[in-house]
Amino acid sequence: MTHVVVLPGDGIGPEVAAEAIRVLDALGIDHSQHPFGGNAILDQGTPLPEETLAACRTADAVLLAAVGLPELEGQPVRPEQGLLGLRKELGVYANLRPAVGNGVDMMIVRELVGGLYFGAKGIRDDGTWFDTCEYSRPEVERIARRAFEIARGRGGRLTSVDKVNVMHTSRLWRDVVSELGASDYPDVALDHALVDSFAMTIVQAPETIDTVVTENTFGDILSDVAAAVTGGLGLAASASLGDSGPGLFEPVHGSAPQIAGQGIANPAAMLRSLALLLEHGLGRHAEASALSRAVEAALRGEPTADLGGTATTRGFGTAVVAALETAS
Ligand code: NAD
Ligand code: IPM
Ligand code: MN
Repeated sequence: MTHVVVLPGDGIGPEVAAEAIRVLDALGIDHSQHPFGGNAILDQGTPLPEETLAACRTADAVLLAAVGLPELEGQPVRPEQGLLGLRKELGVYANLRPAVGNGVDMMIVRELVGGLYFGAKGIRDDGTWFDTCEYSRPEVERIARRAFEIARGRGGRLTSVDKVNVMHTSRLWRDVVSELGASDYPDVALDHALVDSFAMTIVQAPETIDTVVTENTFGDILSDVAAAVTGGLGLAASASLGDSGPGLFEPVHGSAPQIAGQGIANPAAMLRSLALLLEHGLGRHAEASALSRAVEAALRGEPTADLGGTATTRGFGTAVVAALETAS
């Protein structure tokens, strides 16, 4: 029997997760919820309890809302460490972040389990704090291959984003992507861009962009920029995939503590992440597109405050469930 693990997390996480759970129930998909993030630190001293990790490993897919508590920011034990640990443990190295809307249709393919986030870090004897960015050839090759495949299935164009004018790891990145493109994907139009000016391109000419592949930190930043030009973080979904095992599906946004507890968060990013889960995680294509269409209808009919409307989180979810039921 298909089983989805839901990690509601912190802040607006449980609020948007509740709407996704209504959709899982409407589709008759079995699910369970587990502690994760700041709430797990406060209760058990760790953001990723053993029981939660074990449940994720045996699930068919994992749906995560968001983690992060203001009182834990910058502490030695942080909610975000649980998220990085889960991504690493599940081996979900390919993070697909579509940005669609306002005439834009781009796909950012972000490397998710390497680079600055996972390199050696610490404090030297002289008191200097450091993080290091590291990539191996196989790590770059597997994400590049995934991105070429995705580009081939879309508009056939791939932009690889790096900082080759400064960073050593970018030289490896550019070489590997170029070599793989020439040997295995001559049909995909490949170009390279430097991350600083590419951030400007996302703002000024996002409609010219098709598929993007980039390393972890650049992908984190650029995907928020891409979200901003396509309706905001309330809309931006993501899928994190490995070569085998369950995928992890989560909105691009965080726990939004400023609006938590008010029932006004936009659940669209979460519900679109659930649509990605149905598509990539469970192979339930018809339900995935039905849910996507239901979210589009709710965005037109019941927009939340971030989109200039007045709908509540619950009201938006009700519209989605109603549209789904009408469709089936
Ligand atoms: P954020 O994404 O939580 O919020 C940024 C802005 O977008 C805020 O103005 C917020 O109100 C708005 N926003 C975000 N999601 C929204 C939604 N669904 N509906 C309406 N408005 C929404 O980023 P932040 O404020 O920089 O981070 C807050 C916390 O979240 C931090 O602890 C951070 O580490 C964490 N975080 C977690 C994840 C995750 O769990 N995947 C992602 C990003 C940030
Ligand atoms: C994201 C988030 C995370 C990241 C944080 C919360 C660890 O910002 O998913 O974009 O930087 O990957
Ligand atoms: Mn981010």
